[in-house]
Amino acid sequence: MTTLVTGIGELATLDGTLDGADHAEGLGLLHDAAVVVDDAGEVLWVGPAPAAPAADRRRDVGGRAVVPAFVDSHTHLVFAGDRAGEFTARMSGTAYDGGGISSTVTATREASDEELRALLRARVSEMRSQGTNVLEIKSGYGLSVDGEARALRLAREVTDEVTFLGGHVVPRELASRRDDYVDLVIGPMLEVAREHARWIDVFCEPHSAHAFTGDEARTILEAGRAAGLGLRVHGNQLGPGPGVRLGVELGAASVDHCSHLTAADVDALAGARDTTVATLLPGVEFSTRSPYPDARALADSGVCLALATDCNPGTCYSSSMPFVIALAVREMGLTPAEALRAATKGAATSLRRNDIGTIRVGARPGLTTLDAPSHVHLAYRPGVPLARLLDLTEPASGCDG
Ligand code: NIG
Ligand code: FE
Repeated sequence: MTTLVTGIGELATLDGTLDGADHAEGLGLLHDAAVVVDDAGEVLWVGPAPAAPAADRRRDVGGRAVVPAFVDSHTHLVFAGDRAGEFTARMSGTAYDGGGISSTVTATREASDEELRALLRARVSEMRSQGTNVLEIKSGYGLSVDGEARALRLAREVTDEVTFLGGHVVPRELASRRDDYVDLVIGPMLEVAREHARWIDVFCEPHSAHAFTGDEARTILEAGRAAGLGLRVHGNQLGPGPGVRLGVELGAASVDHCSHLTAADVDALAGARDTTVATLLPGVEFSTRSPYPDARALADSGVCLALATDCNPGTCYSSSMPFVIALAVREMGLTPAEALRAATKGAATSLRRNDIGTIRVGARPGLTTLDAPSHVHLAYRPGVPLARLLDLTEPASGCDG
């Protein structure tokens, strides 16, 4: 079955080649637009509503804006328990150093498969209800061969974008034997992980006693690459460090956080813009009361940017891409158009995907409607639940105007 989605007040296609679109801000905007999609979500036609072809059914979105579904390219959704007490302490001035991760490891290890699966699925549907379609999910709260394998297996049930993060922190039981833990990560853990994961990531952070040094991170990433996994890096989150340049040197698809950058780091990211995306996670700065990265400087230097939630119980327990977009505009100096681009096409690029993040013929991005006339309202109306993934299998009530 095909569906004609019509009554689109503003369509942000993110397609830079679309004839007749307004490309001034890089969004490929059309007004009074329509899209035809099939039941698998593949876009069959995009253009002005009066020129739309017939389809098997018709869905009128009543003048709403439509954007490509958000791509949340950095999440840690497989965990049990929460860390509300740690959050409260942080709001009173206690700094984040990664030490709290071990309490989530304990809670996650104690949870049954069924409990973890239910928690994970609830978080995924929370994301979808706020306009996200494709999401990446990391392991990293098992930190044993079986615990990491379980997290990756569960993640694989809900997404293709699965990331092995055995190199999250050194688990408590091996705190005095860091080298043994790195050997475990690059040996038996990686052997099992490669069956489920597409990516490998590491928390490269010399400012945390729990995370990994540049040398350890290099060992883990090189082993992952040799095992056929693509590379992602948690870098420069808590202070300046080697993560960004290591990621660029090794050809990582994404370096994430990028909160503390030197001029050399910015230059390295700008020079690698066709290979390595800088993924900014401003929900983390919000939730840890830390200084935001200078997104304006990165954008002005030509760095390819993505935005993601980092949804996790320690540094940002939010599943909301609209919230992240609002922070990127209000706190980091991106324009609403730049923020939308980073949350869709930029995040897709960080996953090396061109079939999502843009509304163009042949892609399968998912369509997100906004209860608003324009994408600008994502930042202009923070905290208001405007964004919703359009479910074409649902009866037409909600979105028909
Ligand atoms: O991306 N920094 C490392 N990992 C997560 C936080 C995980 C946690 O605190 O539970 C992050 O911020
Ligand atoms: Fe993270």
